[in-house]
Amino acid sequence: MKLHGLLAFIFGTVGFARLSRSSCLLRNAKPNVYWYQCFRTNNYLADVERAPIDVDRVTFGNSNIKIVLDRSFDRLSKNLARLGFFYCGTEEIENNAFQGLTELEFLAVTGGKLQVIKGAWFEGLSKLRVVSFQNNQIKHIEDSFFSTSPLQVVDISSNKITCLPIASLTNFKVKELYFQFNRLTWMCQDMIIDWLKGKNIETGHHFPEYKDAPYELIKMCSNKLPKSYLDEESFNKCIENRTSELLPNRENYTIKQFCEFLEKKSSPFLDCNED
Ligand SMILES: *[C@@H]1O[C@H](CO)[C@@H](O)[C@H](O)[C@H]1NC(C)=O
Ligand SMILES: *[C@@H]1O[C@H](CO)[C@@H](O)[C@H](O)[C@H]1NC(C)=O
Repeated sequence: MKLHGLLAFIFGTVGFARLSRSSCLLRNAKPNVYWYQCFRTNNYLADVERAPIDVDRVTFGNSNIKIVLDRSFDRLSKNLARLGFFYCGTEEIENNAFQGLTELEFLAVTGGKLQVIKGAWFEGLSKLRVVSFQNNQIKHIEDSFFSTSPLQVVDISSNKITCLPIASLTNFKVKELYFQFNRLTWMCQDMIIDWLKGKNIETGHHFPEYKDAPYELIKMCSNKLPKSYLDEESFNKCIENRTSELLPNRENYTIKQFCEFLEKKSSPFLDCNED
């Protein structure tokens, strides 16, 4: 009894000294699916140590996780199927950060400060199907990313990407690709449209307003300009011309007046006769 109490005291203090404060919950994602949800943590390694080793999902929100270290989720590799870092200021992910997570299906690092997506992160993750790097500062995606595991859904929207390497996409067999709100050039968008059409890839978003310029607008220009004149500057001028032609040159007009204006020139973007 006395010894028991002493041991409990020692483990208690050692435990508290070693494991820093954090807020993590174990909750149900659905029946029989266990989710370890942490928020506002400064020490994700300590949180991982306190998680049940057979947990299915782990997420961190509004936390401070600048670097995701190599193999830091090793102890959870048995069952870990979903792993998410949401608004954790993440700047860097070490090459082997997720190595050994053979059950991982879903990986999200969103609202961070990543500048690159590396192919090495995904090696051996044969069950990975969904990845989201939405809302980082990504400028570059390594070519090897596009030939790793058979991904089904990739979200790289709201980053700083200027183009995707079309030539490296031959083995990229996603079903859904979200790339809205990057810095894609018109030239690049024009190429991507053709690629997406050929592959039948879904790009829509569940918020209808969450869209880049419509394909039809881009195609109006790439079909009109001779290929030899097709540089970014003339493309941009053409887009400006097309859009300004489709707006009346006046102030304070109503939708009804706009529709009257369109009677003379039709717009592929608006149907005034809808009832
Ligand atoms: C845009 O319109 C201006 C004036 O209407 C014209 O001079 C110019 O050639 C047009 N540019 C393109 C790229 O269509
Ligand atoms: C349009 O509306 C604003 C605010 O009501 C007004 O100040 C302006 O003079 C109007 N412009 C024209 C061309 O009617």
